[in-house]
Formats: sequence, C-alpha cells, structure tokens
Amino acid sequence: MLENVFIETYGCQMNVADSEVVASILAEKGFKSCTDIGEADIILINTCSVRDNAEQRIWGRLNAIRHLKRKNRGLIVGLIGCMAERLKKKVIETDQLVDIVAGPDAYRQLPSLIEEAQAGHKAVNVLLSREETYGDIKPVRLDADGVTAFVSIMRGCNNMCSYCVVPYVRGAERSRDPESILREIAELFDSGYREVTLLGQNVDSYKWSGGGNNLDFSQLIEKTAQIDPLLRVRFSTSHPKDISDDLLRTIARYENICRHIHLPAQSGSNRILKLMNREYTREDFMSRIESIRNILPGCSVSTDIITGFCTETEEDHEETLSLMKWAGFDFAYMFKYSERPGTRAARRLKDDVPEKIKIKRLNEIIKLQNSLSEKSKRNDVGKVFEVLVEGFSKRSDDYLTGRTSQNKVVVFPKEDKKKGDYVRVIIEGCTSATLKGKII
Ligand code: 5AD
Ligand code: SF4
Repeated sequence: MLENVFIETYGCQMNVADSEVVASILAEKGFKSCTDIGEADIILINTCSVRDNAEQRIWGRLNAIRHLKRKNRGLIVGLIGCMAERLKKKVIETDQLVDIVAGPDAYRQLPSLIEEAQAGHKAVNVLLSREETYGDIKPVRLDADGVTAFVSIMRGCNNMCSYCVVPYVRGAERSRDPESILREIAELFDSGYREVTLLGQNVDSYKWSGGGNNLDFSQLIEKTAQIDPLLRVRFSTSHPKDISDDLLRTIARYENICRHIHLPAQSGSNRILKLMNREYTREDFMSRIESIRNILPGCSVSTDIITGFCTETEEDHEETLSLMKWAGFDFAYMFKYSERPGTRAARRLKDDVPEKIKIKRLNEIIKLQNSLSEKSKRNDVGKVFEVLVEGFSKRSDDYLTGRTSQNKVVVFPKEDKKKGDYVRVIIEGCTSATLKGKII
C-alpha cells in the first residue's frame, strides 16, 4: 500500500531544503508526498527552535491536528528538525499525540522510525552526526515553482553566538561534497530551473578538502556560476566576520551571481556585539559594507537585528538604529531577544530587558526599517532591471512576478512572457512590498 506523507515546514530556508531531503528519503521507500493533510497516513512537522514563539506555534499546531488522530487511529505524527533535537524525548512526554521524534541528522532513519511507530512504539532518534550532509540524496522539490530552488551546501554551525540554539540543535559544521552540489544544480538547470540559493548557516566558512582538492566558498560559487550564464546564483547566510573581499570580487566577475547579500548585524553596539560573541565590532561591520559598496556597486544588503538582548541600554539601542541608518539596509528581519535554554547567554547573562521595552525598541526598529525599505524601492523607480519570471502575480493572471538580481519583487503585465524567462523591466512605481513596472 502506498502511504501518504504530509510534510509541514516551519523556520528557515534550511528547513525547507531539509523537508525536500526527507521527502526524497521516504519516496525511495515507496511513500508518497501529499498536499492535503486530511489524506495523510503520516504527518511530519519540521520544526524550528530559534525563538520561543516558533516553538509555541508548533505546540499550537499539534493541538489543531489532534482531531485528525481521533478520526484516523492509525495516523502517525512525527516532530522532526530543530525542536525535536532540542526537546528530545520530552516532546513525547509533553504531547502523547507525537509518535516520532527525529533530529536533523536522523532523517535517513525515518523509514525505520515510521515502522516502529506503526508497530505501536514511540520512536526517537536525535543523534547528531559529524559527517551527515545528505550529499548523495536528490531532494524531491516540494511546492516547486520549477524556477527557483534551495540547495544545501553545508550543515551545522561552529560559531558560538551566545543567544543562539543552532549549534546545539544542528551540531558541528560540515561541508557537502562539491561534486554532489554541482551535479544537483546542473540537473536542476537541465530540468528548467533558473535560480539556486546556496544554503548554509555560515556559507563563508564552506570548506571542502578531499581527493587532494581544496575548495572554499568563493571557488564553489564560481563553479556554480559557470554551470550556465542563464543560471542565477544566490547564497545565504554570510557572516560579517568571514565574508571576504575575495568572495566579493568573485561575485563581481559573474553577472549571474546575484547582487544581494544577507549580512546579519544583530546589533550596532560594540558592547552588545561582544556579549553576543559575534566576533566583530560595529567598525568591522561598517568596513564590510564599504567593501560591498566599492566592489559591488548596486548590490543590496539585508540584515537580521535582535533587539532587547541582555543588558541592552537605550544607548545601545540608539547605536543599532544609527547603524541601520548608516547602512541603509534594503530589507531586515527584526526580532525581540528570546532566551533559549542551554545557550551561553541563558547560562551566563540575565534576560533583563523588560518585555515592554523590547516591544518598544522592536517597534522603533521596524518603523525605521520600513522607511529605509521604502527609500530603497523609491530609488529604483525609473531604472531598468533584469527580472527572472517566477510565475503569475498573486492578484491577477494578467500580471507576472519575479525578482531583480537585488532580490526585490517586481510585478508587471505579462505580455507574452512566462515563468523561467528573463525580461527587462522598467520600474514605474512601488508599494510597500513590491516594485511595479513594465517590460521594455
Ligand atoms: N532570539 C531572537 N532572535 C534570534 N535569532 C537567533 N537566535 C535568536 C534568539 N535567541 C535571530 C538572529 C538570526 C536569525 C536567524 O534569528 O537574528 O540571524
Ligand atoms: Fe533554521 Fe535555526 Fe530555526 Fe533550526 S533553529 S529551523 S536552523 S532558524
């Protein structure tokens, strides 16, 4: 009997890529991915632990699917990924609904974990690995637009940012074999894909040595760009302490490596950066931005900001605002600090910024970023950009949508174009989230 698996994904792009690996491992064993949760024999929830509210959402979700198990006694529910890794057996103790708990390095065991669960046992595997990269597995593209895809190039993280749970739930950093990466991307291109995003917690520290060959991230991205000039290459995430001029110069040499860098600042205060153990200063960060501006004119920069970290004062907060203004970020993800059990900050520092102040500072940061994002978009009006068409716009099939190299979304009348095409679009206006234009 073919069994239907429904995979629901929370968290970062890495998790999206992981769910595709999971789908592939299960497809090998004859399981089928389904898009209607009501038809599922097995529900897998791929989880995030990065902030407490991510975990709360998942507990809420489990509550919402409880009734499905009442209807179908044989239904298997698995919690997989970061939250599974963090809570281990406690997941099952907290919620009897869950049959399977599998951490990010245990996905190859999922078929046997499912078997165990079907035999009526709770099945748990949260072993982390030093080697697992799932390099040989060809991901099954879920929710695919057929144009853009995520490609995982490394796993885990060796940085020890004091606030962050990732090293504990995803283990040590390891890079994936470049041959398997490049093969996967070439196959994507041959089947019509036109954009890949190379993913890792810290792509700048990608390093492969094997068979006498050494390869760093700039060499990997260069080889990726050489697959075909019609293939767009993106990457995420860069670390301000590691992003090198060498990488920026490589990007400059290839028009098909996108002019967008996601460079999380986290804070603009040197005192806070030190407590966060980010290993760069505000000045270092500014010098990286200057390098980007010099070597890659017209490159957009987005960032992540955490507000209300332990001991953060109003002066520290002002420093963050002033760094944001100075950098003029095109886009930002902004968060309130959320203490994660077991991290260095949780062990050594007091989460002492009152919730009310965290909310006030977050609102100030969001307000500033809204004006910076708007300015960045207004600046594009009148300019012409090459846009890769990703599909119809949400509102109407008479319009197409795609992104510029700078990662800004553009909507325009479709004319005779279709997804996967490159078009040149002149920008005539903008809304808060998108650019509007027409094909020239
Ligand atoms: N609290 C709030 N935000 C966090 N991030 C990581 N850990 C935490 C935390 N404990 C944010 C950082 C990171 C992004 C993925 O999530 O900004 O870059
Ligand atoms: Fe991604 Fe980090 Fe969340 Fe895990 S904890 S899903 S690595 S953001």
